[in-house]
Amino acid sequence: MDFHALSGMRDYIGAPSEDLRTVINIASDLFQSAGFREIETPIMEDARLFDRSLGSASDIVSKEMYTVEQSGDRIIALRPENTAGVVRAVNQHSLMANRNQLKLFYAGSMFRHERPQSGRYRQFHQVGVEVFGRSDPVIDAEIVHLGAEFLERCGLNDVVCLVNSIGNLEEREQYKKELVGALDPYREELSDDDRRRLEENPLRVLDSKDETCQQICEDHAPSIRDYLGNETRQHFESVLEYLDDLGVTYELDDTLVRGLDYYSRTTFELVSEDLGAQDALCGGGRYDGLSEVLGGDPCPAIGFAAGLERIMMLRDRFESEDLDTSVDCYLVPFDEESHRELLSLLPELRTIQHPQQQRSVSVELGDPGDSLRSQLRRANRYRSAVTLLLGSDERENNEISLKRMDTGDQRTLDYPPAEKLFDQIKGTLLDVDPEEIASAN
Ligand code: HAM
Repeated sequence: MDFHALSGMRDYIGAPSEDLRTVINIASDLFQSAGFREIETPIMEDARLFDRSLGSASDIVSKEMYTVEQSGDRIIALRPENTAGVVRAVNQHSLMANRNQLKLFYAGSMFRHERPQSGRYRQFHQVGVEVFGRSDPVIDAEIVHLGAEFLERCGLNDVVCLVNSIGNLEEREQYKKELVGALDPYREELSDDDRRRLEENPLRVLDSKDETCQQICEDHAPSIRDYLGNETRQHFESVLEYLDDLGVTYELDDTLVRGLDYYSRTTFELVSEDLGAQDALCGGGRYDGLSEVLGGDPCPAIGFAAGLERIMMLRDRFESEDLDTSVDCYLVPFDEESHRELLSLLPELRTIQHPQQQRSVSVELGDPGDSLRSQLRRANRYRSAVTLLLGSDERENNEISLKRMDTGDQRTLDYPPAEKLFDQIKGTLLDVDPEEIASAN
């Protein structure tokens, strides 16, 4: 029987896996510079946590959660997103006690049982930030800017920023009533799912993926921003002014209600036209009421999460199958004794810092059972810049040969001690021209 990764889940091998790490490093570097500390919560949570925070009528909770029944009827779920888990952790550990602000970031896998398509996976990765304790509009703008800055640092330029305000709880209640009234004449044209949404949680109708429903909403749904009270409206206007100050270009989008129940006031998404139907790279907003809904003290909060698969798709290396390794230094032993000598040198060689890059020198050891010719061919395949050659003659004379692969120059050096040799390797690495190695190979 052939086994395959499950539908909507994939292996990351070589280049895509490394790119995933690179993107996470870009995020963690940027978020730390903005004062965020890292949090890692479990991949599984009590399913009721998501039910309460995202809402039972949301697509995620009603049809996309991977759940497991545990003994005693307890249902646990693979996390479909991480905001609920972070708020749970903040409350559980009283992290806001004696603080007026808390900034946390995370990176990890999320799971949604959606229909797989380009840019939509059932296991995908997010990085995200959450700020607690801040209700001022400056932070809303800062968070939107941080999302945009992150995408820019990932090398994505054609990103559009959509912003909206969905009001506070009372304003939304009023809007929901008006929305139900406006859509009621078209009830019969809606799918069973959308009719259920209209009854249980009308705002979710605006997230419907059904085209008929989308058209009805476009033609007949009132704009949520017309229902904002003075304070919410002023907050939103200030957010927009701060976005201008920060140089973020945005478009207002009054259909941007986001698919989850916990949002209030500011919502935003960063989208790319290059992605097709699944165009959101990053989404977030305020969720001022969530802490209380989950049993904690009232606490204003705002955050976003960015989907790394979609980011990587735009960075080119996502479908790469490149698994070739390159090393800086290849060791060629001519006999068993030299092989043992070079083997014992290997760990120390790997502690040398590369003179031009922020990493250790990479080293690979050849096999004395292979001919010199085939060992050198392998050194070439590894695109090594430097090759060390050791045989019985060199050992007898306390020497080792160093070959520079771009020019073919070979020199004999005193060895041991190792220190001088290490300096020579570093010096050569500093000098070699990577283009020349590639063409020599
Ligand atoms: P979300 O909009 O559901 O928000 O997801 C954020 C991002 O995750 C999306 O913009 C998208 O890039 C990516 N994403 C979502 N679903 C998939 C999928 N099936 N396959 C690939 N990528 C996907 C949240 O998750 C909120 N927790 C964000 C937040 C944080 N709001 C406040 N704080």
